[in-house]
Amino acid sequence: MGYNRRQILKGLGAAALATAAGGSSLLARPAPIVLPRRPPVQGGQIHDWHFAAAERSMRLLGPNGPESTVWTYSDALLPVKRIRLGDTIRARLENSLGEHTAIHWHGIRVPNTMDGVPFLTQPPVMKGESFLYEFTPPDPGTFFIHPHCNESGQTGRGMSGVLIIEGDERRPADADLVLAYKDWRLADDGTWLPFETPEGASRAGTYGTIRAVNGIAPQTQAVPAGGNVRLRILNLDSTRVIEVGIDGAEAAIIAIDGNAVTPFPLETWRMGPAMRIDVLVRAPGPGKTFKVIDYFSSEPWTLATCAANGPARKARAFDPAILYEAAIPRADLRDAERMSFSFSAASGSIAEAAAAWAPDDPLAKILLDGLCVRDTSFWAINKTSWAAGQNRQLPPPLGLLKAGQSYVFELMNATPHHHPIHLHGHTFEVLSTSRLERPRHFADTVLLQPKERIEIAFVAAPGNWMFHCHVLEHLEYGMMGYFRVA
Ligand code: C2O
Ligand code: CU
Repeated sequence: MGYNRRQILKGLGAAALATAAGGSSLLARPAPIVLPRRPPVQGGQIHDWHFAAAERSMRLLGPNGPESTVWTYSDALLPVKRIRLGDTIRARLENSLGEHTAIHWHGIRVPNTMDGVPFLTQPPVMKGESFLYEFTPPDPGTFFIHPHCNESGQTGRGMSGVLIIEGDERRPADADLVLAYKDWRLADDGTWLPFETPEGASRAGTYGTIRAVNGIAPQTQAVPAGGNVRLRILNLDSTRVIEVGIDGAEAAIIAIDGNAVTPFPLETWRMGPAMRIDVLVRAPGPGKTFKVIDYFSSEPWTLATCAANGPARKARAFDPAILYEAAIPRADLRDAERMSFSFSAASGSIAEAAAAWAPDDPLAKILLDGLCVRDTSFWAINKTSWAAGQNRQLPPPLGLLKAGQSYVFELMNATPHHHPIHLHGHTFEVLSTSRLERPRHFADTVLLQPKERIEIAFVAAPGNWMFHCHVLEHLEYGMMGYFRVA
């Protein structure tokens, strides 16, 4: 690729990219591309889905490998659902697992009662029970689903799905591929290794033993030669940070966590668990390949090899501005209330936090069960840890927010580890970062580097919304809380 890091950090717009591809100077800096507004959507279909959470037998170590006992939402290991913006989802979750579960629609601005957090937003769906989720997603993009208690055990055995909401494209790409990254923690005989370990939970998290994309070993994907290929790259791992780059083709980031951005050249992009990017790649000529690579590991690791085939196309300039602008309510920064959150090792006592409850608050009476708490806490947000050990009382909210009010949150990492911080039910704007330079963008999960300070802004929506690190052992061992927005 013909771009160096400095040029990227200066935030070149798509027009510059197109010019560069056409051979002119990168220094002639045209005005940044403004993505057009999305026209209003009309109509929409209703999708009646059935998610049958159950134990199934699948081969994760290759077609000749042993069978593993997976827990999935369907007969497909990783269901991928595609709908159009304006469509309504009516999804029945039926639980045949030996423990309760739920569906959280990660990144989607759902009504609070559809958010899928057992005890806080809905009763847990017990074995033999079902629950109906019904909502109309307000934004297009690349999203995913997962359970919200014993997440390391349930997603560790397979419970996840990809949800794509189309309708952000002004011009369709020539191909659209999903690359969902997620490791398995399997022994050679196909049985599971422990999903949580004290060493992992108290540090960076416990890593899988088998690296996989879309549930299996990386595959070669066919793409149209010379075409525009949209890659939807999701980090669905419980622990691992990846840093994605493309080798062998021009590429630009066109969306982050499903939200369109002014396209900018992709050199590499660091993604913690739950983070997504949409990348537009100009496929090379017939017979050539490009690779999607994780450069974060000590050895670069290939997520996918894309082989270009079909007839050669006439050369055109690469113009990645194919999306409409993201339509997310923008915080009013002059009027925003500021709050600070420090992500640290556990320190405060749970009893101390519990004393903050008003005695007659109905939420204070919620007792979480064993699936939703661990025996100890290693982590905290503003010195408050999620419930642990004998204390199963729902902790008091991290903050009381006003619906419709703008907020700026300052997030501070007081640990030597990465924490991808996720806020439910909202799409926030990342205003500033102190370590890893990023353009301003909308997201639902942001990666806090060790010792980093980040500011995000959003307009609060009513409900009780979880706020946590998305390294699963970090949230399970304390780095999790919620806000009450009324
Ligand atoms: Cu994917 Cu509570 O989040
Ligand atoms: Cu974390």
